Amino acid sequence: MSFDKRILCIGAGYVGGPTMAVIASKCPRYSVTVVDVDQGRVDAWNSGKPPIYEPGLDEVVRQGLGRNLFFTTDIARGIRENDIIFVSVNTPTKTFGAGAGLAADLQYWELAARQILEHAESSKIVIEKSTFPVKTAQAMERILMSRNDGIHFDVLSNPEFLAEGTAIRDLMNPDRVLIGSRSTERGLKARDELVQIYANWVSRERILTSNIWSSELSKLASNFFLAQRISTINAISAVCEKTGADVTEVAKIVGMDSRIGSKFLNASIGFGGSCFKKDILNLVYLCRVEGLEEVADYVERVVRINEYQKERFVLNMLTAMFNTLAGKKICLFGFAFKADTGDTRESPAIDVTRRLLEEHAEIVVTDPQALVSAREDLADLERGVSYVADPYEAIRGCHAIAVMTEWSLYRELDYRKIHDLMVKPAFVFDGRNILDHQALFEIGFNVYPIGKRPMSHF
Ligand code: UDX
Ligand code: ADP
Repeated sequence: MSFDKRILCIGAGYVGGPTMAVIASKCPRYSVTVVDVDQGRVDAWNSGKPPIYEPGLDEVVRQGLGRNLFFTTDIARGIRENDIIFVSVNTPTKTFGAGAGLAADLQYWELAARQILEHAESSKIVIEKSTFPVKTAQAMERILMSRNDGIHFDVLSNPEFLAEGTAIRDLMNPDRVLIGSRSTERGLKARDELVQIYANWVSRERILTSNIWSSELSKLASNFFLAQRISTINAISAVCEKTGADVTEVAKIVGMDSRIGSKFLNASIGFGGSCFKKDILNLVYLCRVEGLEEVADYVERVVRINEYQKERFVLNMLTAMFNTLAGKKICLFGFAFKADTGDTRESPAIDVTRRLLEEHAEIVVTDPQALVSAREDLADLERGVSYVADPYEAIRGCHAIAVMTEWSLYRELDYRKIHDLMVKPAFVFDGRNILDHQALFEIGFNVYPIGKRPMSHF
C-alpha cells in the first residue's frame, strides 16, 4: 500500500509509543514506524500488549498494528525509508562529569542524531519530541549539517505535554500542540509539514508555532509552573498541620480565584515522575551556566520543598508511632508515582521506603501495576522489603498503612477487615488525602492525613 507520508519515531518508550499509536490511529493514510534498540520492548508492542500500562493504549495500538503502525529494531532501514523522524529517546539527568545531578545526559539523543546522519539517503525533517535542554536543536543541527552532499536536515522542536495515566486522552485532545522552527524558508516549510500532520485531528487554533528556543524553553517552563504549584500547596500543608487549618479547604478557597484556578493543588507526599525533577534541574543548570544565580536558586527551591515534604512525611510517621519504627511493619499502598500508571520513575515511594528502612522498619509494598518496577528500583536492598499484590494479604500483621499512590481501588477496600488484620494500635498515613478519614477513625485507626489535623485515639 502506498502511504501519503512516512513517519519514523526513534524510541518506543512512554512518549514515543503512545504518541505514534495516536498519530497512526488519526492518520490512517500515513505509515508510522517506531524503532527501539530494546528488542523486548519492540516485541511487546508488536504483540498488542504494550510494555507500559496506560488506559486506552492497548486498543489504539491494536487498531494500527499491521495496518499503518510498525515496531522494529531496524534503525538503519527506518531512517532510510522515512522522511519525517521524531526523536523520542530518554534524556535522564547526568550522573557523571560536568553538570552531574543537574544537566541532561544527552548521549542517547546524540547517538540518535549520528544514526540519522549515517543512514539517511535523502533529506529529512527531524523532530525533537523528548524534552531536551534549550539549544539542543542547535546542537542537533550542527551534527546533521556535517554532511555536505546535498542532503538537508530540518530540525523542529515539538515537545510533548502528555501526562501519564491520561496519555491517550491528552494526545487525542491536547490543550495545545507546540511546534518550534527556524524562520527560514526551509524551516517554515518543515513546520507546515508537521502542522499538517496534527491538523488531521487538532483544530488549527490549538496548534501553536514559535521560534525553536521558545518551544524548548516553554516545555521546561510549563513543567516548572506545574511542579511549583504542587510545592506551593505542599509548603502550605506544612503550615496547616501546625495551625489547625485544613489544606483541602485552603486549596478549594485559593483555587476558586479564577486567576489561580483549581487544578494541580492536591497536597501530597510530593511529586514524582520522569519529567518534573529532571526538567526543573535542567532549568537550574541552564540558569547557572548563564550566570542567573538568583533565578537558579528560586527554581531549585521547588525541588527542595519536594524533598522536604517526603522527609516530613517520614518524620511524622516516626513521631506518631512513639518515636520508633524499628521492627515495625509498614504497608505502602501504591508504589507508582501517580495512579493509572505502572511507572515508578522518581516515585516518592522510593525515597520513603529507603528512609523507613534507615529507621529499621520492615516494608510491604502493594500496587496493582507497579510491583515489577518497584522490585527493580529496590533491587540493591538485600532485606526488609516484600512485595504482595493483594492488599488484604499485604496488610496482614502490619502496624501502619502509608498511602503513596492515589489508586481509586484504595478508596474501595474494606477497612474494617483491614483493621482486624493489623497490629494495634493501627495507623494510617494518607500521603494522598484520598481516604475517608472520619470513617477510618471511627473503625479504630489513628489517622494522619497531609495538611490536616491528625485523628488519634490517644
Ligand atoms: C508531567 C506534566 O503534567 C506533563 O505535561 C509533561 O508532559 C510530563 O510531566 P506526569 O509526570 O506524567 O506529567 O504526571 P502529572 O500528572 O503531571 O503528575 C506529576 C506528579 O505530581 C505525580 O507524582 C502526581 O501525583 C503529583 N501531583 C500532581 C500532586 O502531588 N498534586 C497535584 O495536584 C498534581
Ligand atoms: P520517555 O519517557 O521519554 O519516552 P523512555 O525511557 O520510556 O523515555 O523511552 C525511551 C526509549 O528510547 C527507550 O525504550 C530506549 O531503549 C530508546 N532509545 C534510546 N536511544 C535509542 C536509539 N539511539 N535508538 C533507538 N532507540 C533508542
